[in-house]
Amino acid sequence: MTTDMRHAVVDVLEDADAVAMKMAELFIKVVKEKPAGKVRIALSGGSTPKKLFTILARPEIAGQVDWSRVELFYGDERYVPDGHADSNHASARELLLSKVSIPAGQVHPMPTETTAVEDAARYQTSLQKAYGADTLEAGRPLFDIVMLGLGTDGHTASLFPGEAVLDEKKAWVGVSAPKTAPHERLTLTYPAIASSALVVFLVTGENKVPMLARLRQGDGSIPSGRIVSEGKILILADRAAAGELS
Ligand code: 6PG
Repeated sequence: MTTDMRHAVVDVLEDADAVAMKMAELFIKVVKEKPAGKVRIALSGGSTPKKLFTILARPEIAGQVDWSRVELFYGDERYVPDGHADSNHASARELLLSKVSIPAGQVHPMPTETTAVEDAARYQTSLQKAYGADTLEAGRPLFDIVMLGLGTDGHTASLFPGEAVLDEKKAWVGVSAPKTAPHERLTLTYPAIASSALVVFLVTGENKVPMLARLRQGDGSIPSGRIVSEGKILILADRAAAGELS
């Protein structure tokens, strides 16, 4: 089964806090219900997931997650030094990872130490090690959850309009140098994101109204519209992004 954006399930919630709480509940559920092995989750970047990280770090929520089973990856990363204010990993570490008992070896930041091309290849190798194979097998997804955001230009992860990485069919990790956002970036590719049991978009705020509407139509002219999953796709949006406030 392959799901495209036209067949995504959309859940419109009151506000950004409700979206974050719903994602936290889903996070708990997926970890609890996976029968065996590590639960591999790719975190989204940008500002939207910060509310989620804060909620997951609350003792009464974190206590519901068996962190020894969780293995965290990133959907993308700005190519900046570790600890940089714009680093997605720095944000996740500050708000969540430093507050829960996830084993350090189960957190996999995207490296930003040599060149973007070399570090993309290094990250692919770490994904292959975690997956236990060098090629993706249908029916055995790389990720249990891939979390994604939505940019106001229709990008997701760091799959930006016009970037060559949009055409990548084999590599799991690529490089992007967007014109509409700062920094060179590393990003999961479409094939890597497709190897998922569940893709969840977190979309909040009125500035996302136009692109959320196009995403829901599966508009392939925007990068996010071309996302597919071998599992399911869920869009968690607030009323503002769904255009239901007016
Ligand atoms: C990044 C993200 C990117 C983000 C969208 C939405 O590293 O920038 O992965 O894809 O999810 O740009 O960003 P906001 O959540 O800040 O609106």
